[in-house]
Amino acid sequence: EVPSIAEHFDSSFLIGAAVEPHQLDGVQGEIIKRHYSSIVAENAMKPISLQPNEGDFRFQEADKIANFARENGLSLRFHTLVWHNQVPEWFFLDENGKKMIDETDQVKREANKELLLDRLTTHIRTVVERYKDVVDSWDVVNEVIADEATNARGMRESEWYQLTGDEYIRVAFQTARQYAGSDSKLYINDYNTEVSPKREHLYNLVTELLEDHVPIDGVGHQAHNQIEWPSISDMRRSFSMFAELGLDNQVTELDVSLYNWPPTPAYREYEDIPTERFDEQADRYEELFSLYRELDSIISNVTFWGIADNHTWLNDRAREYNNGVGVDAPFVFDINYQVKPSYWRIMNQ
Ligand code: G3I
Repeated sequence: EVPSIAEHFDSSFLIGAAVEPHQLDGVQGEIIKRHYSSIVAENAMKPISLQPNEGDFRFQEADKIANFARENGLSLRFHTLVWHNQVPEWFFLDENGKKMIDETDQVKREANKELLLDRLTTHIRTVVERYKDVVDSWDVVNEVIADEATNARGMRESEWYQLTGDEYIRVAFQTARQYAGSDSKLYINDYNTEVSPKREHLYNLVTELLEDHVPIDGVGHQAHNQIEWPSISDMRRSFSMFAELGLDNQVTELDVSLYNWPPTPAYREYEDIPTERFDEQADRYEELFSLYRELDSIISNVTFWGIADNHTWLNDRAREYNNGVGVDAPFVFDINYQVKPSYWRIMNQ
């Protein structure tokens, strides 16, 4: 058996993996227990999974993950209290079933905003109370910054934003802190946090919120990387900027796609991937973990967005851009759960 990744990095940061409840048994469960010190639900703790209809909380799948963490002494990251995606539509409907966004009457718009923020508070309170004993990091809000700014602050124009401005973010953090207490940490999570001007928009928002005493403890950097992008210096800069604000950093959704953007052409089958491509990926993993080690005083968790190459959202993306056929292979374990060159190279760090 190969040495444990989590043990290897024990003095620097937690090593995590995103999991689905069905991955907790058998070989994958054994890999999680051996190689990771932290887990996060890939989908099971998103609002649409936890409260598909108002007041109808479904904890069964999420509980499997929380219990696995409890039973095996793993740290649990919570993903995610608020998102514009995978959020059920009912949040944004008024009492008559009308879309809040279509309301033109100013008085009703104000009432709708209160209703929406109440629903948000209820969701957060219920979920946080259930899992606070085991969660040590919460993604409080996910992806609130736009890729291409359509307003001066670069805020994503989600329904949350259109209906409340940035108040939903403030309420979310305050509510999470109120019910979680201060034993666990609260994160603002996003992708392309290394990329300008998105990085600066995130930085400015966080600065403003901190000035207003909104309880943010850290920034989650998703880190959906490619082999040649983003640059290590952009990453170093981003981690350092947020650390200078007194914040923690976590790498929350690490993967290294084999493709550039767009991910085409893609290899049709896993067997079609040449070994040279895996070697290039290994070079990349080495430089990433070398950077994380260098910055281990300002990075507390490095979580992969999956366990092994047999299960990754990047396969769906490869298929989406290649007429339904294609695979990716972003992790350090292959489709048979064997270690790849990338594994050995991160273990050199
Ligand atoms: O559960 C349904 C199933 O009932 C249905 O038969 C099937 C048909 O398509 O869909 C299933 O839902 C899928 C869900 O994953 C659970 O497997 C959705 O279609 C699919 O869109 C969803 O994808 C997830 C995606 O978020 C949604 O945006 C990915 O698994 C998940 O890896 C991905 O994770 C996100 C992070 O939360 C935020 N950052 C980016 C990251 C990658 O996109």
